[in-house]
Amino acid sequence: MIRVATRADLARISEIRMAVRENILSRPDKIVDAVQYLIDCDAFWVFEDATGIHGFSSADPRDGSIFALFMDQASEGRGIARALLDAACLHLATTGHGRAWLSTDPGTRAERFYRHQGWRETGRTADGEIRFEKALG
Ligand SMILES: CC(C)(COP(=O)(O)OP(=O)(O)OC[C@H]1O[C@@H](n2cnc3c(N)ncnc32)[C@H](O)[C@@H]1OP(=O)(O)O)[C@@H](O)C(=O)NCCC(=O)NCCS
Repeated sequence: MIRVATRADLARISEIRMAVRENILSRPDKIVDAVQYLIDCDAFWVFEDATGIHGFSSADPRDGSIFALFMDQASEGRGIARALLDAACLHLATTGHGRAWLSTDPGTRAERFYRHQGWRETGRTADGEIRFEKALG
């Protein structure tokens, strides 16, 4: 059900990304190049079943970060995000990273989700997001 994303998935990926009610993207144009780069180097995954794509994740092997983890709201709470996050972390581990990091807005479902998955807060980013880290492997 989880497979590597291709550029053909971009429209659905964008639809899910733009529909979120937390961690809203203020400047979607600023991430287009990064998304295409990560898809082209097989560092982007979608969860798909017979009804379509329900969520996606991405890891950036250049800096050891989780670049994205987003679910269609109708498909939340089924463990899909956890599986997508595992795929992204596995990619970071196999590209030589001992730790993964990410940032997310405070007070969100995502913050609670990451704490529940064992991520540890290491501080705040300049724009006030919580920075989390997790050891891999
Ligand atoms: C954050 C997000 C990815 C979580 O997706 P999800 O489908 O609810 O996650 P899952 O169903 O895989 O949940 C996995 C686990 O987290 C737990 N969990 C999920 N939401 C939780 C919450 N709000 N509080 C506590 N635990 C939670 C689940 O119970 C489950 O626990 P388990 O591993 O013991 O079974 C999703 O809500 C989302 O896309 N949010 C909007 C976009 C966003 O903010 N993304 C993060 C950007 S950094």
